[in-house]
Parts: sequence; structure tokens; C-alpha cells
Amino acid sequence: MVGAWTMNETAEDQRLPHMTDPPQFVTLEDLKAKVGVLYWKLSGEPDDSQLAKIRAERGYNYVDTIDIAPDKLPDYDKKLKMFFEEHIHSDEEIRYILAGSGYFDVRDRNDKWIRIQCEKGDLLILPAGIYHRFTLDEKNYIKVNRLFVGNPVWTPINRPCENHPSRVNYVQKAAS
Ligand code: LAC
Ligand code: NI
Repeated sequence: MVGAWTMNETAEDQRLPHMTDPPQFVTLEDLKAKVGVLYWKLSGEPDDSQLAKIRAERGYNYVDTIDIAPDKLPDYDKKLKMFFEEHIHSDEEIRYILAGSGYFDVRDRNDKWIRIQCEKGDLLILPAGIYHRFTLDEKNYIKVNRLFVGNPVWTPINRPCENHPSRVNYVQKAAS
């Protein structure tokens, strides 16, 4: 991770950093304690030994690779639009960055966007039920491993979905 910060919510291009002036950075501790996002800095190599350990501990037996770039991803524009729609999943979203960079945005407890800037070596785990979205930055390229427990379900559930079980569970946990 290069950093995480509270976003300015201007209408400028989603690929720009959207930092406030002055910047309001969010620490790793806060990401974990306040929104339940887990993060590790690893090598970015597919055979990283620490990654293998985390996968074994957390049961992430599924992995695939997605290359997100205009000339590499079929239906690129449509997919990018979908990734940037605010949504949740019924399971964790686990991403290991192999190359390139991008932004994962998550909602904090006050419903403000926190932007998490990711690059090679970052392992990011978004909890089930957290409102989030993804965008490329101006370099227009990221290559990631997607991990999962068992058969992957990537289906986004777009906001509003307050009554979805994973959302209810997330909100309960965040409040405790
Ligand atoms: C997503 C991309 C980053 O699922 O894989 O949002
Ligand atoms: Ni998602």
C-alpha cells in the first residue's frame, strides 16, 4: 500500500487521487480496527511464502489472475464501470497485487469514502458486507490474484442492500 486517505468527493476523474487539502491519511491500524480491512505487504510474487501461509490459515484454496487493462480485459469499459459501482459481496474480497496499481475505496463508519492505493505486493482483504468499489488509476493497469474459499462468487450486490445478511452482520460487528 502506498497509503490510504479520506477522499475529497469532487466530480473529477475517478482515476485521480482525490486527496483532500491538506491530506487526511488513514493508518493501517484504523483500517483494521474501524472498518475491518486487513492488509499485508508481501513480495508480489505468486509463490510468496507468507502468502502461502496466509492462504493455508484462512482456507483460501482458490486463486485466479485477472489482468485489468484496456487491451487485456474483455468488456473493459463495462467491467470498469461495474467495479466502480458501490457494492458489497457475501464473502470477503481478497486481492493480491502482482503488477500495476489501483484504488480500492471503502466506506468508513460515517459513510465517507476512504481510498486505499494499492501496488505490487499488497494483499488486501475486504470483509464481507463492506461497501466498496474499485478503480484503476491514470496508468490504467493492474494485475491481481483473486483468492477465495471454495468456488468463487464474484457477484456484486449494489447499494442499497442494508438488509442483506452479510451487510447486517458487518454492521453489527462494526458497532461492537
Ligand atoms: C474487483 C477487481 C479489482 O473485483 O478484481 O474489484
Ligand atoms: Ni467488490
